[in-house]
Amino acid sequence: MHLLEGRHHIVVPCSPGVAPFLSRELRDLKMPIIEERATSVTSKGGFSDVLRLNLNLRTGQRVLWRLAAFKASDPDQLYEKLMPLAWEDLVTPDGYFSVTSVVDNPTIRDSRFANIRVKDAIVDRLRRRCGRRPDSGPRRDKLVFHLFWQQDEVKIYLDTSGPTLAQRGYRLDPGKAPLRETLAATLILASGWNGSKNFVNPMCGSGTLVIEAALLAQNRIPGLLREAYSFQSLAGYKSAELRTLQAQARRAARPDRKIRLIATDIDPQMIQVAKENAVRAEVDDVIEFVTCDFAETPVPEGGGVLFCNPEYGVRLGEEEELKITYRRFGDFLKQKGSGYEAFIFSGNRNLLKEVGLRPARRWHFDNGGIACELAAYPLYTGSLIKPKTDSDQPNPA
Ligand SMILES: C[S@@+](CC[C@H](N)C(=O)[O-])C[C@H]1O[C@@H](n2cnc3c(N)ncnc32)[C@H](O)[C@@H]1O
Repeated sequence: MHLLEGRHHIVVPCSPGVAPFLSRELRDLKMPIIEERATSVTSKGGFSDVLRLNLNLRTGQRVLWRLAAFKASDPDQLYEKLMPLAWEDLVTPDGYFSVTSVVDNPTIRDSRFANIRVKDAIVDRLRRRCGRRPDSGPRRDKLVFHLFWQQDEVKIYLDTSGPTLAQRGYRLDPGKAPLRETLAATLILASGWNGSKNFVNPMCGSGTLVIEAALLAQNRIPGLLREAYSFQSLAGYKSAELRTLQAQARRAARPDRKIRLIATDIDPQMIQVAKENAVRAEVDDVIEFVTCDFAETPVPEGGGVLFCNPEYGVRLGEEEELKITYRRFGDFLKQKGSGYEAFIFSGNRNLLKEVGLRPARRWHFDNGGIACELAAYPLYTGSLIKPKTDSDQPNPA
């Protein structure tokens, strides 16, 4: 059977905290959940599902198609068991591929050695079959194979995405301390916001949150923006299926939502960057950008969510200054946020305490190696706001 035929395991890696939301996305796309782990979700399907997932998923990092699973205790066995696979189904003799890996095997000190053995098996097979060999190297813009080797258990995948799916294609200038697009989308999905109410984003930086919100509200999938995936370099690849999926997605978009999306930042340069990103994401016409202190952010009637990712300072001395910002932000929420639910994403719990409101829920994530949390504060009308007291205990999710 051709290596792209049949139903295979499909693994979607994600960052810590994201898996429950990724599973939900997969279920919404009618994919079965075989296993949910801390940093991946496994499903099963055909290769056309792989295309759908690459285009649709907002929270996953990449889509891995399992080619084989077997046992190997050392690099020679690894090579011997990889050789019989029909690599010529996937790689053309004049093509290019790279190999990535996660290896925990006692015979391997440097995972690059395991990658070389994978490369050798592919190249030797192609040379024997076709008389020529493909090139290989570190670039991930063509075919990518991923080796997962734990003790003697080997799983070999085709990484069908190539560069991470966080790279949607709209953010060329990341600005300062940007959120990854996949994490921004996860935070919005966690909040339960579905595009039917206003989205207000003070301290928007490069605009990742508000742009992901606009895409979600318009039912525009990430695959409408991104142009390149690793699967496009497969031997015999035909673009018709991808084009059909994109055309269907374009027809399913709902550009005319009657809500307001407002993003503000004190730094005019950041507002400029955010506007340029929104133009590339084709959502600039639905977002109102304003340069102002967060306290001046317009908060329209009708309710919705107030989403914010303030700086959380990792350098000494910054925390004291930022305490004032968080305290002022709490005052802003109390004064202007009635009828809204506020969400603050921060990597500093001490600073979050300065907001002076008790979070109703918390979710834990990892942002570039820093443990972060999303805290939710429902804000009712004036007198119902419950200020935080010292005896309050958080109510973890
Ligand atoms: C951590 S960044 C936000 C990053 C954003 N989530 C992104 O993906 O690019 C925090 C932003 O808050 C802005 N900021 C800091 N103090 C502010 C204030 N007092 N009023 C409005 N914006 C402020 C900064 O200019 C910066 O762009």
